[in-house]
Amino acid sequence: MSELIGVVGAGTMGNGIAQVAARAGYDVVLRDVRDEFLQRGLSAIDKSLQRDVDKERLSSAEKQAIIGRVNSTTELASLSNATLVVEAITEDASIKTNLFRELDQITSPATILASNTSSISITKLGAATSRPDKVIGMHFMNPVPVMKLVEVIRGLATSDETYDKVRTLSENLGKTALDCNDSPGFVSNRVLMPMINEAIFTLYEGVATRESIDGIMKLGMNHPMGPLTLADFIGLDVCLAIMNVLYEGLGDPKYRPCPLLKKYVDAGWLGRKSGRGFYEY
Ligand code: 3HC
Repeated sequence: MSELIGVVGAGTMGNGIAQVAARAGYDVVLRDVRDEFLQRGLSAIDKSLQRDVDKERLSSAEKQAIIGRVNSTTELASLSNATLVVEAITEDASIKTNLFRELDQITSPATILASNTSSISITKLGAATSRPDKVIGMHFMNPVPVMKLVEVIRGLATSDETYDKVRTLSENLGKTALDCNDSPGFVSNRVLMPMINEAIFTLYEGVATRESIDGIMKLGMNHPMGPLTLADFIGLDVCLAIMNVLYEGLGDPKYRPCPLLKKYVDAGWLGRKSGRGFYEY
Protein backbone atom coordinates (compact mmCIF):
# COMPACT_ATOMS: atom_id res chain seq x y z
CA MET A 1 0.00 0.00 0.00
CA SER A 2 1.59 3.29 -0.97
CA GLU A 3 -0.80 5.57 0.86
CA LEU A 4 0.77 7.67 3.56
CA ILE A 5 -1.22 8.34 6.72
CA GLY A 6 -0.24 11.30 8.88
CA VAL A 7 -0.99 11.25 12.61
CA VAL A 8 -0.59 14.41 14.67
CA GLY A 9 -0.15 13.76 18.39
CA ALA A 10 1.76 10.76 19.78
CA GLY A 11 -0.30 10.39 22.98
CA THR A 12 -2.48 7.41 23.86
CA MET A 13 -4.88 7.85 20.95
CA GLY A 14 -2.32 9.04 18.38
CA ASN A 15 0.14 6.23 18.95
CA GLY A 16 -2.72 3.72 18.90
CA ILE A 17 -3.93 5.08 15.54
CA ALA A 18 -0.37 5.04 14.14
CA GLN A 19 -0.01 1.44 15.30
CA VAL A 20 -3.19 0.14 13.67
CA ALA A 21 -2.44 2.00 10.43
CA ALA A 22 1.11 0.61 10.24
CA ARG A 23 -0.15 -2.85 11.14
CA ALA A 24 -2.63 -2.63 8.26
CA GLY A 25 0.30 -1.96 5.89
CA TYR A 26 0.18 1.82 5.59
CA ASP A 27 3.23 4.04 5.85
CA VAL A 28 2.73 6.41 8.74
CA VAL A 29 4.26 9.73 9.74
CA LEU A 30 3.71 10.40 13.44
CA ARG A 31 4.22 13.99 14.47
CA ASP A 32 4.46 15.57 17.90
CA VAL A 33 5.99 18.79 19.15
CA ARG A 34 8.78 17.21 21.24
CA ASP A 35 11.07 14.26 20.73
CA GLU A 36 10.32 12.90 24.19
CA PHE A 37 6.58 12.71 23.34
CA LEU A 38 7.45 10.81 20.17
CA GLN A 39 9.72 8.43 22.08
CA ARG A 40 6.96 7.76 24.61
CA GLY A 41 4.51 7.11 21.77
CA LEU A 42 6.88 4.75 19.97
CA SER A 43 7.61 2.80 23.13
CA ALA A 44 3.85 2.43 23.74
CA ILE A 45 3.53 0.98 20.21
CA ASP A 46 6.43 -1.38 20.91
CA LYS A 47 4.86 -2.55 24.17
CA SER A 48 1.43 -3.03 22.65
CA LEU A 49 2.79 -5.08 19.71
CA GLN A 50 4.99 -7.10 22.07
CA ARG A 51 1.79 -8.39 23.76
CA ASP A 52 0.90 -10.04 20.47
CA VAL A 53 4.44 -11.37 19.96
CA ASP A 54 4.29 -12.90 23.46
CA LYS A 55 0.94 -14.48 22.60
CA GLU A 56 2.45 -15.79 19.34
CA ARG A 57 -0.04 -13.85 17.23
CA LEU A 58 2.70 -11.79 15.60
CA SER A 59 6.29 -12.69 14.76
CA SER A 60 9.19 -10.51 15.90
CA ALA A 61 9.98 -9.82 12.23
CA GLU A 62 6.39 -8.64 11.59
CA LYS A 63 6.59 -6.44 14.68
CA GLN A 64 9.80 -4.85 13.42
CA ALA A 65 8.27 -4.31 9.97
CA ILE A 66 5.26 -2.55 11.54
CA ILE A 67 7.50 -0.32 13.66
CA GLY A 68 9.61 0.36 10.56
CA ARG A 69 6.55 1.79 8.81
CA VAL A 70 6.12 4.46 11.51
CA ASN A 71 8.33 7.48 10.90
CA SER A 72 8.35 10.04 13.68
CA THR A 73 8.96 13.74 13.30
CA THR A 74 8.58 17.08 15.02
CA GLU A 75 8.15 18.83 11.65
CA LEU A 76 4.57 19.38 10.57
CA ALA A 77 5.84 19.81 6.98
CA SER A 78 6.71 16.08 6.95
CA LEU A 79 2.96 15.44 6.60
CA SER A 80 2.79 17.26 3.27
CA ASN A 81 2.53 14.05 1.21
CA ALA A 82 -0.10 12.36 3.36
CA THR A 83 -3.33 11.28 1.68
CA LEU A 84 -5.08 11.54 5.03
CA VAL A 85 -4.07 13.15 8.31
CA VAL A 86 -5.66 12.18 11.63
CA GLU A 87 -5.32 14.79 14.34
CA ALA A 88 -5.14 13.46 17.91
CA ILE A 89 -3.79 16.39 19.91
CA THR A 90 -5.03 17.99 23.11
CA GLU A 91 -8.81 18.56 23.40
CA ASP A 92 -8.68 22.35 23.03
CA ALA A 93 -10.82 23.96 20.33
CA SER A 94 -8.49 26.87 19.56
CA ILE A 95 -5.31 24.72 19.42
CA LYS A 96 -7.10 22.27 17.13
CA THR A 97 -8.47 25.04 14.93
CA ASN A 98 -4.97 26.50 14.48
CA LEU A 99 -3.60 23.08 13.58
CA PHE A 100 -6.30 22.54 10.95
CA ARG A 101 -5.47 25.95 9.49
CA GLU A 102 -1.79 24.93 9.23
CA LEU A 103 -2.58 21.47 7.85
CA ASP A 104 -4.74 23.13 5.21
CA GLN A 105 -1.73 25.13 4.07
CA ILE A 106 0.91 22.40 4.01
CA THR A 107 -0.99 19.42 2.58
CA SER A 108 -2.24 18.84 -0.95
CA PRO A 109 -5.79 20.14 -1.58
CA ALA A 110 -6.90 16.51 -2.01
CA THR A 111 -5.74 15.43 1.47
CA ILE A 112 -8.49 14.47 3.90
CA LEU A 113 -8.12 16.12 7.30
CA ALA A 114 -9.66 14.01 10.06
CA SER A 115 -9.96 14.74 13.76
CA ASN A 116 -10.05 12.19 16.56
CA THR A 117 -11.76 14.77 18.77
CA SER A 118 -14.07 13.32 21.42
CA SER A 119 -16.52 16.23 21.27
CA ILE A 120 -15.30 19.36 19.47
CA SER A 121 -17.35 20.51 16.46
CA ILE A 122 -16.14 19.05 13.15
CA THR A 123 -18.04 21.81 11.36
CA LYS A 124 -15.97 24.42 13.21
CA LEU A 125 -12.69 22.63 12.38
CA GLY A 126 -13.78 22.42 8.73
CA ALA A 127 -14.54 26.15 8.66
CA ALA A 128 -10.90 26.87 9.62
CA THR A 129 -9.82 25.34 6.29
CA SER A 130 -10.41 25.99 2.60
CA ARG A 131 -11.68 22.38 2.23
CA PRO A 132 -14.54 21.81 4.70
CA ASP A 133 -15.82 19.07 2.37
CA LYS A 134 -12.66 17.07 3.19
CA VAL A 135 -12.78 17.58 6.97
CA ILE A 136 -14.32 14.76 8.99
CA GLY A 137 -14.31 13.19 12.46
CA MET A 138 -12.62 9.81 12.97
CA HIS A 139 -13.30 9.08 16.61
CA PHE A 140 -11.32 6.04 17.70
CA MET A 141 -11.93 4.42 21.08
CA ASN A 142 -9.32 3.68 23.74
CA PRO A 143 -7.48 1.27 23.62
CA VAL A 144 -7.32 1.81 19.86
CA PRO A 145 -5.73 -1.55 18.94
CA VAL A 146 -8.53 -3.42 20.75
CA MET A 147 -11.72 -1.43 20.18
CA LYS A 148 -13.56 -2.16 16.92
CA LEU A 149 -15.38 1.14 16.46
CA VAL A 150 -14.52 4.26 14.51
CA GLU A 151 -17.31 6.78 15.02
CA VAL A 152 -17.24 8.80 11.81
CA ILE A 153 -18.63 12.31 12.16
CA ARG A 154 -19.87 14.29 9.21
CA GLY A 155 -19.49 18.04 9.57
CA LEU A 156 -22.10 20.24 7.94
CA ALA A 157 -20.02 20.45 4.74
CA THR A 158 -18.35 16.99 4.73
CA SER A 159 -18.85 15.36 1.33
CA ASP A 160 -20.15 11.84 0.71
CA GLU A 161 -16.91 11.13 -1.16
CA THR A 162 -14.84 11.98 1.94
CA TYR A 163 -17.11 9.83 4.09
CA ASP A 164 -16.82 6.87 1.69
CA LYS A 165 -13.01 7.11 1.68
CA VAL A 166 -12.85 7.28 5.47
CA ARG A 167 -15.23 4.34 5.84
CA THR A 168 -13.07 2.28 3.47
CA LEU A 169 -9.91 3.28 5.33
CA SER A 170 -11.50 2.36 8.69
CA GLU A 171 -12.40 -1.06 7.29
CA ASN A 172 -8.83 -1.48 6.00
CA LEU A 173 -7.69 -0.79 9.57
CA GLY A 174 -9.87 -3.67 10.76
CA LYS A 175 -12.47 -1.37 12.30
CA THR A 176 -16.19 -0.86 11.82
CA ALA A 177 -17.16 2.67 10.85
CA LEU A 178 -20.51 3.96 12.04
CA ASP A 179 -21.52 7.46 11.09
CA CYS A 180 -23.36 10.27 12.77
CA ASN A 181 -23.89 13.98 12.25
CA ASP A 182 -21.94 16.68 14.01
CA SER A 183 -23.56 17.43 17.38
CA PRO A 184 -22.07 17.96 20.86
CA GLY A 185 -20.53 14.69 22.09
CA PHE A 186 -21.63 12.95 18.86
CA VAL A 187 -23.36 9.68 19.83
CA SER A 188 -20.64 7.92 21.85
CA ASN A 189 -19.92 10.58 24.43
CA ARG A 190 -23.48 11.94 24.47
CA VAL A 191 -24.57 8.54 25.80
CA LEU A 192 -21.46 7.39 27.69
CA MET A 193 -20.53 10.53 29.64
CA PRO A 194 -23.91 11.21 31.29
CA MET A 195 -23.80 7.59 32.51
CA ILE A 196 -20.33 8.11 33.99
CA ASN A 197 -21.38 11.49 35.43
CA GLU A 198 -24.45 9.88 37.01
CA ALA A 199 -22.26 7.16 38.54
CA ILE A 200 -20.13 9.94 40.07
CA PHE A 201 -23.32 11.54 41.47
CA THR A 202 -24.25 8.25 43.14
CA LEU A 203 -20.81 8.20 44.80
CA TYR A 204 -21.08 11.92 45.71
CA GLU A 205 -24.50 11.43 47.30
CA GLY A 206 -23.37 8.36 49.25
CA VAL A 207 -25.78 6.05 47.46
CA ALA A 208 -23.09 3.34 47.30
CA THR A 209 -19.34 2.74 47.52
CA ARG A 210 -17.10 2.95 44.45
CA GLU A 211 -16.78 -0.85 44.46
CA SER A 212 -20.56 -1.35 44.59
CA ILE A 213 -21.25 1.20 41.85
CA ASP A 214 -18.71 -0.40 39.53
CA GLY A 215 -19.71 -3.95 40.49
CA ILE A 216 -23.41 -3.26 39.88
CA MET A 217 -22.74 -1.96 36.38
CA LYS A 218 -20.17 -4.67 35.54
CA LEU A 219 -22.14 -7.65 36.78
CA GLY A 220 -25.60 -6.25 36.16
CA MET A 221 -25.11 -4.75 32.72
CA ASN A 222 -22.18 -6.83 31.48
CA HIS A 223 -19.99 -3.75 31.04
CA PRO A 224 -16.29 -4.68 30.80
CA MET A 225 -15.38 -1.96 33.31
CA GLY A 226 -17.47 -0.19 35.93
CA PRO A 227 -18.14 3.50 35.15
CA LEU A 228 -15.75 4.86 37.80
CA THR A 229 -12.94 2.57 36.64
CA LEU A 230 -13.71 3.62 33.07
CA ALA A 231 -13.62 7.32 34.05
CA ASP A 232 -10.17 6.78 35.60
CA PHE A 233 -9.11 4.97 32.41
CA ILE A 234 -10.34 7.78 30.12
CA GLY A 235 -9.00 10.56 32.39
CA LEU A 236 -11.18 12.67 34.68
CA ASP A 237 -10.05 15.89 32.98
CA VAL A 238 -11.24 14.47 29.64
CA CYS A 239 -14.57 13.41 31.20
CA LEU A 240 -15.07 16.88 32.67
CA ALA A 241 -14.19 18.60 29.38
CA ILE A 242 -16.73 16.45 27.52
CA MET A 243 -19.47 17.10 30.13
CA ASN A 244 -18.80 20.83 29.71
CA VAL A 245 -19.14 20.53 25.92
CA LEU A 246 -22.50 18.75 26.39
CA TYR A 247 -23.67 21.25 29.04
CA GLU A 248 -22.72 24.32 27.03
CA GLY A 249 -23.50 22.91 23.58
CA LEU A 250 -26.96 21.54 24.40
CA GLY A 251 -27.85 24.09 27.10
CA ASP A 252 -29.65 21.54 29.24
CA PRO A 253 -28.98 21.32 33.02
CA LYS A 254 -29.21 17.54 32.85
CA TYR A 255 -25.62 17.60 31.55
CA ARG A 256 -24.13 19.56 34.47
CA PRO A 257 -20.87 17.97 35.60
CA CYS A 258 -20.98 16.46 39.08
CA PRO A 259 -19.22 18.72 41.65
CA LEU A 260 -17.15 15.73 42.79
CA LEU A 261 -15.75 15.33 39.26
CA LYS A 262 -14.76 19.02 39.25
CA LYS A 263 -13.19 18.69 42.68
CA TYR A 264 -11.08 15.70 41.67
CA VAL A 265 -9.84 17.49 38.55
CA ASP A 266 -9.00 20.57 40.66
CA ALA A 267 -7.01 18.30 42.98
CA GLY A 268 -5.06 16.87 40.04
CA TRP A 269 -6.69 13.46 40.62
CA LEU A 270 -7.05 12.68 36.94
CA GLY A 271 -7.32 8.89 37.11
CA ARG A 272 -4.86 6.27 35.99
CA LYS A 273 -2.45 8.73 34.35
CA SER A 274 -1.89 10.73 37.55
CA GLY A 275 -1.85 7.72 39.88
CA ARG A 276 -5.11 8.64 41.58
CA GLY A 277 -8.71 9.12 40.58
CA PHE A 278 -11.66 7.21 42.00
CA TYR A 279 -9.07 4.49 42.69
CA GLU A 280 -5.36 4.55 43.54
CA TYR A 281 -2.86 3.20 40.98
N1 3HC B 1 -2.88 -2.52 23.29
C1 3HC B 1 -3.07 -3.74 22.74
N2 3HC B 1 -3.86 -4.69 23.26
C2 3HC B 1 -4.47 -4.41 24.44
C3 3HC B 1 -4.34 -3.17 25.09
C4 3HC B 1 -3.50 -2.20 24.47
N3 3HC B 1 -3.32 -0.98 24.99
N4 3HC B 1 -5.09 -3.19 26.21
C5 3HC B 1 -5.68 -4.40 26.26
N5 3HC B 1 -5.31 -5.13 25.19
C6 3HC B 1 -5.76 -6.48 24.84
C7 3HC B 1 -5.14 -7.56 25.68
O1 3HC B 1 -3.92 -7.98 25.13
C8 3HC B 1 -6.20 -8.66 25.59
O2 3HC B 1 -6.10 -9.34 24.35
P1 3HC B 1 -6.61 -10.88 24.18
O3 3HC B 1 -7.87 -11.03 24.98
O4 3HC B 1 -6.82 -10.99 22.71
O5 3HC B 1 -5.51 -11.71 24.70
C9 3HC B 1 -7.50 -7.88 25.55
O6 3HC B 1 -7.17 -6.55 25.10
C10 3HC B 1 -8.15 -7.81 26.89
O7 3HC B 1 -7.22 -7.23 27.80
P2 3HC B 1 -7.01 -7.71 29.30
O8 3HC B 1 -7.31 -9.18 29.43
O9 3HC B 1 -5.67 -7.22 29.77
O10 3HC B 1 -8.04 -6.86 30.15
P3 3HC B 1 -9.61 -6.78 30.00
O11 3HC B 1 -10.22 -8.07 29.59
O12 3HC B 1 -10.04 -6.13 31.25
O13 3HC B 1 -9.81 -5.77 28.79
C11 3HC B 1 -10.21 -3.61 28.00
C12 3HC B 1 -9.28 -4.49 28.80
C13 3HC B 1 -10.19 -4.03 26.53
C14 3HC B 1 -9.65 -2.19 28.13
C15 3HC B 1 -11.67 -3.75 28.57
O14 3HC B 1 -11.65 -3.56 29.95
C16 3HC B 1 -12.64 -2.77 27.96
O15 3HC B 1 -13.14 -2.99 26.86
N6 3HC B 1 -12.93 -1.68 28.69
C17 3HC B 1 -13.81 -0.62 28.21
C18 3HC B 1 -13.05 0.24 27.26
C19 3HC B 1 -13.91 1.36 26.75
O16 3HC B 1 -15.06 1.53 27.06
N7 3HC B 1 -13.29 2.16 25.89
C20 3HC B 1 -13.93 3.33 25.34
C21 3HC B 1 -13.58 4.49 26.21
S1 3HC B 1 -14.37 5.95 25.66
C22 3HC B 1 -13.38 6.54 24.45
O17 3HC B 1 -12.32 6.03 24.15
C23 3HC B 1 -13.90 7.75 23.78
C24 3HC B 1 -13.23 9.01 24.27
O18 3HC B 1 -13.70 10.06 23.47
C25 3HC B 1 -13.51 9.34 25.72
